[in-house]
Amino acid sequence: MTTSSETPRPGPRQAKQTFAAAGEDVDVVEISPVHEEGMLTETELADPFGPDIEQQAKELAARYPQARSALLPMLHLVQSVQGYVSQEGVAFCARQLDLSEAEVSAVVTFYTMYKRKPCGEHLVSVCTNTLCAALGGDAIYAKLAEHLGEDGKPLGHEQTAGTPGEPGSITLEHAECLAACDLAPVLQVNYEYFDNQTPEQAVELVDALRRGEKPAPTRGAPLSDFKSVERQLAGFFPEEDDVFRADVDGPSQAVETLRGAQLAADRAWTAPAMADDVPLPGGEEAK
Ligand code: FES
Repeated sequence: MTTSSETPRPGPRQAKQTFAAAGEDVDVVEISPVHEEGMLTETELADPFGPDIEQQAKELAARYPQARSALLPMLHLVQSVQGYVSQEGVAFCARQLDLSEAEVSAVVTFYTMYKRKPCGEHLVSVCTNTLCAALGGDAIYAKLAEHLGEDGKPLGHEQTAGTPGEPGSITLEHAECLAACDLAPVLQVNYEYFDNQTPEQAVELVDALRRGEKPAPTRGAPLSDFKSVERQLAGFFPEEDDVFRADVDGPSQAVETLRGAQLAADRAWTAPAMADDVPLPGGEEAK
């Protein structure tokens, strides 16, 4: 029995009802039949996360004054194992951080970097926000959707060509602005940039990925795969690997991005110094 001092736990059907309210087009976390029958206990959940992952989850929780702050990296750790955040992954994080599954699900369904269906070996994100769209991003997305589709049916948003997780499988998605508008149209593979793309270049790129190749991104670290990148996003790096460090810490900016700063430096332009006493909204003064 739950007493008034205990944190209420979500009912077995709560998540499903929440997702259903969002409409039929929303991809939802699959709820197992065990959930539907209301018989779920933690020990009945199949746990795909072994002792090593459990230990790493505890390391993450220990990095923060409040363990719950580790939820975002822990979800990336879950994705590094399964290639998405499954219901088991939600339960794992909830258990590690003393959260309810509803609280974890609320975070998973808010951020687009947490996938609710198994991803391919590679995640291809095409920017279709305004600037990229106008300069060819929409055409790139349409071309890739057609090229990766089957039986004349284009691949849909967050759908996978091939078997998820298998070599050469590719998940395609629309992406909002990828913060590289000066290099539009851009796409990313596992969050690494390919700048100034054309539909033809994008097709060559995904064909190379399907053949098992790892074409070099325009800048930044070399390509790996979605699960490996998720592990890095969780905060786990091979500490002794100098090559890896050089790749990750190396310059990733483009000449175009620094053009304004370079012009200012060449012409000795500087911003005016900030006055000592700047009135702030609400009557406070800047220190
Ligand atoms: S609109 Fe595509 S990177 Fe900004």
